[in-house]
Amino acid sequence: MRSILTSRHGSLIPLLFASTMACGPALADNPSRPDLDNPATIAAGAKRFNQNCVYCHGNAGSGGKGAALQGRHDLTPEYLFQTISNGKQRGSLLMPAWREAFSEQEIWELGSYILSLRDVGPKK
Ligand code: HEC
Repeated sequence: MRSILTSRHGSLIPLLFASTMACGPALADNPSRPDLDNPATIAAGAKRFNQNCVYCHGNAGSGGKGAALQGRHDLTPEYLFQTISNGKQRGSLLMPAWREAFSEQEIWELGSYILSLRDVGPKK
């Protein structure tokens, strides 16, 4: 082991550096981000979505005053987190910012539920 490390010193260091760079910023920006594919996380998001979001986004995100959230392969976790946190406006329609109402964990759960609707309904 020691001999490998010593002889490959020059090529190992940049490799380690590159992999730290690749996952470092994402972890640093999103310390509260849970596993978005975890069924319990999705279920927690679904419950909160049904209580707070269906009024505008329709049952299971089928759409209404707010955009449809089904079959949306364009929505990334980061975009969902930011948009739910900060709200969004389209014309005279306004979604409030939710960051005062929910913890970061709860906002990730909502995002996780919306991601789980990717393969529901028509593809977009
Ligand atoms: C008062 C109505 C209203 C409520 C309640 C509401 N939204 Fe919205 N939402 C909107 C409007 C309006 C938009 C902007 C519509 C658009 O982009 O076409 C929007 C946009 C979004 C978007 C971005 C969609 C896109 O295509 O960019 C997401 C994600 C979202 N809402 C999630 C939520 C979640 C999660 C909740 C519940 C915590 C929620 N919304 C509650 C009205 C609402």
